[in-house]
Amino acid sequence: MDILQKPSEMQAWSKARSQEGRRIVLVPTMGFFHQGHLSLMRRAAELGDTVVVSLFVNPTQFGPNEDLASYPRNFEHDMDLARKEPVAAVFAPTPDLMYLAGFQTEVRVKQLSTHLCGRSRPVHFAGVTTVVTKLFNIVQPAAAVFGEKDFQQLAIIRRMVADLNIPVRIVGHPIVREADGLAMSSRNANLDPANRAAALSLSSALQLVRAEAARGVRATAELGRMVERHIHSFVGTAIDYASFVDGDSLEAVEAVDERTILALAVHVDGKAGKVRLIDNGFVLPR
Ligand code: PAF
Repeated sequence: MDILQKPSEMQAWSKARSQEGRRIVLVPTMGFFHQGHLSLMRRAAELGDTVVVSLFVNPTQFGPNEDLASYPRNFEHDMDLARKEPVAAVFAPTPDLMYLAGFQTEVRVKQLSTHLCGRSRPVHFAGVTTVVTKLFNIVQPAAAVFGEKDFQQLAIIRRMVADLNIPVRIVGHPIVREADGLAMSSRNANLDPANRAAALSLSSALQLVRAEAARGVRATAELGRMVERHIHSFVGTAIDYASFVDGDSLEAVEAVDERTILALAVHVDGKAGKVRLIDNGFVLPR
């Protein structure tokens, strides 16, 4: 497995592989790998013959009061895990290599970025779409795999790729969960094990809503009140949003149908301060 730091080296590496007729598939990550990341790497290996994983904690997608400094990192452990997977190269640049002095370009998906996470994280998605565009230009993959836990990110990247005619196939991969239902996330490392129940309030809220919908409840106002009561019944939780949205437009809906997703973002007391967790899922069986 090759490890590359400089964008120019990564570009040359990819160009050589493409000239050999290889099909490159990119897994963009911010590191601190867990089973969710490893399953993205395995999915990528099914879609092509050359898997590249990018590992970059992108500073521009964090707002001033967010968790850039405390975002978990362990490069050597990540490399040990990636070496056991079908990964041909890891692209791990530093911020100064990605954002040269004078950098001033931004890629922004206007409407979709205003919903859900966009309300409380106003700079986040412009940071994501800009760095993902850069990663696509550097790695030049035929396809890229993203986790569905960040389903708004996935919708925004699909929109961006369609709008800008970027020749990369975007593949979503289902959420990977712990045995108790917690959606896997690098940020889980900052959770307080003594307060695990609070972290589970998101996945159990999803289950609750699915059970109520199966009983015939369709009004999202009523389901929303149940979700809020449920999550607030756990000590140390603060809801950022609990929204019933259309899976394509991300617009709020009043009644649940087959396309409705319950999207959740909840701050949970962690080892040192709050940890912001997200989760989502279709309300009705598909
Ligand atoms: O989902 C993530 O880990 C990040 O937002 C991404 C796509 C790697 C961009 O920094």
